Amino acid sequence: MALIAVASVKGAPGASTIALSLTATWPRRALLAELDPDGGDLRYRLRGEDGAPLDAGLGLVSYAAGVIDGADVFDHVQAVPGGLQVLLGVSSTTETEAVHGRWASIGALLDTVPDTDVIADCGRLHPYTPIEDLLPYASALLVATRPTVDAVGHLRSRLRTLRVELPVFVAVVTGVADRRSQREVQIVLDESGPDGVSARVLGRIAYDPVGAGTLAGEWSGKLSSSPLMRSSRELGHQLIREIDGLQQAAG
Ligand SMILES: Nc1ncnc2c1ncn2[C@@H]1O[C@H](COP(=O)(O)OP(=O)(O)O)[C@@H](O)[C@H]1O
Ligand SMILES: [Mg+2]
Repeated sequence: MALIAVASVKGAPGASTIALSLTATWPRRALLAELDPDGGDLRYRLRGEDGAPLDAGLGLVSYAAGVIDGADVFDHVQAVPGGLQVLLGVSSTTETEAVHGRWASIGALLDTVPDTDVIADCGRLHPYTPIEDLLPYASALLVATRPTVDAVGHLRSRLRTLRVELPVFVAVVTGVADRRSQREVQIVLDESGPDGVSARVLGRIAYDPVGAGTLAGEWSGKLSSSPLMRSSRELGHQLIREIDGLQQAAG
């Protein structure tokens, strides 16, 4: 089904947290792929279903080794409390090198996993990220940003140089009472000029330190009704509507 790339541009707005909360609340069968070339967080943030640390030998590196031969991603995923399936990311530069040159193949395979949408944490879209090789295969890119002037400025400037064509959506991480930022961020992004990739602010993710902390170490696997989880569920429905609409339009 669909591959949805989640990323940030500068700083740490909460892209990894969104990738996890989106997968946990996704209305269809989903798995979380930790593709951040700079290293994944899940091995530190989550434990296996039995409470033991996740198996460091099983994940993106083992998957990438077989990706040319069409490896089955489910042979490389692990379950975490709550039954969420995760493809554990790289933990060191040596491991990143092991994935080198395979990002396009990984994207092509993950976009066509039967009956499963893949939510991919792609890390920070720095200018030479190898993730640009994978993005053409994704159904959509969701970029997380805080609504500050500097964050949105960096986002607009990065979108000008992004060399890929795919639908780009923005999730604004902000307080639950903030009704203005989404519109304001859209106005700034629209000023990007004709060279820029056009990006649409799709929705909001609640700025929720307690909810985010729960996902970073203290998660029992019960889907909490934190503002973060509620906003993720809503954003997930919006994303699916967009992706399905685009796929139907493409025939
Ligand atoms: N929606 C949020 N509300 C409050 N704090 C958040 C939120 N998302 C993430 N955080 C916190 O911000 C820090 C960075 O989050 P992370 O998801 O790793 O960001 P990124 O992947 O963009 O670098 C973590 O301490 C996390 O708990
Ligand atoms: Mg991250």
